[in-house]
Amino acid sequence: VYHTPELTPNLEVPDCAIAVDVLRATSTIATVLAAGGEAVQVFSDLEKLIQVSEQWHPEKRLRAGERGGGKVPGFELGNSPLDCTSELVDGRRLFISTTNGTRTLQRIQDAKAVLAAALINRASVVRYLVDKQPETVWIVGSGWEGTYSLEDTVCAGAIAYSVCKEMNIPVEKIAGNDEVVGAIALYSYWEDNLLGLLHHASHGQRLLRLNCVEDLKYCSQTDVLDVLPIQHEPGVLKKYV
Ligand code: MLT
Repeated sequence: VYHTPELTPNLEVPDCAIAVDVLRATSTIATVLAAGGEAVQVFSDLEKLIQVSEQWHPEKRLRAGERGGGKVPGFELGNSPLDCTSELVDGRRLFISTTNGTRTLQRIQDAKAVLAAALINRASVVRYLVDKQPETVWIVGSGWEGTYSLEDTVCAGAIAYSVCKEMNIPVEKIAGNDEVVGAIALYSYWEDNLLGLLHHASHGQRLLRLNCVEDLKYCSQTDVLDVLPIQHEPGVLKKYV
């Protein structure tokens, strides 16, 4: 478990790297693919997003831009998963750039498998890990501009806890990886009050100031979407089938 993309080791390439941005990029990506989006293509840079998406048929694309929690002017969407209805996204590719989450996905794009995880699709991520049993797994919390994120760490703990449960590994037997032990402990503390956790977290508070209370409610749900976003080519995620 790494708390921000900056802390991931430079030289290794894991078998599986999982980007987490509960509020809200990976929640949005999972929602778009569950609602029938053709793919989600991620960018750290807004200019590059515009340049690449220009080559796409206007009826087959949607552009989403978020900075500081707000929508970037001129883009059709910001980063609210609640805007990603099937009427809007079905059959279209979402080109998206957010402050932290899309940068995390770009940072880990060389891993053998790249997944996007949030609380809402936790069970699908866990099923993949239990089935494939990759030897090295990074779970990378997106944080906020390089700093620690409470909700991403709790989500990492939720994934690790659930993998242990599915594989009959007693969590108290896990030793030697302090980040995982810490993330599981944090998840156990907040497990029954994930909405409270999001209200407590600094980015949750930022979003509340932007009137995004419904986004927090939506993103606090666990295992409600049966969808696993997986990278097909660098920066392009599709639904795993
Ligand atoms: C991010 O990438 O930092 C976020 O997803 C911010 C947000 O839109 O909530």
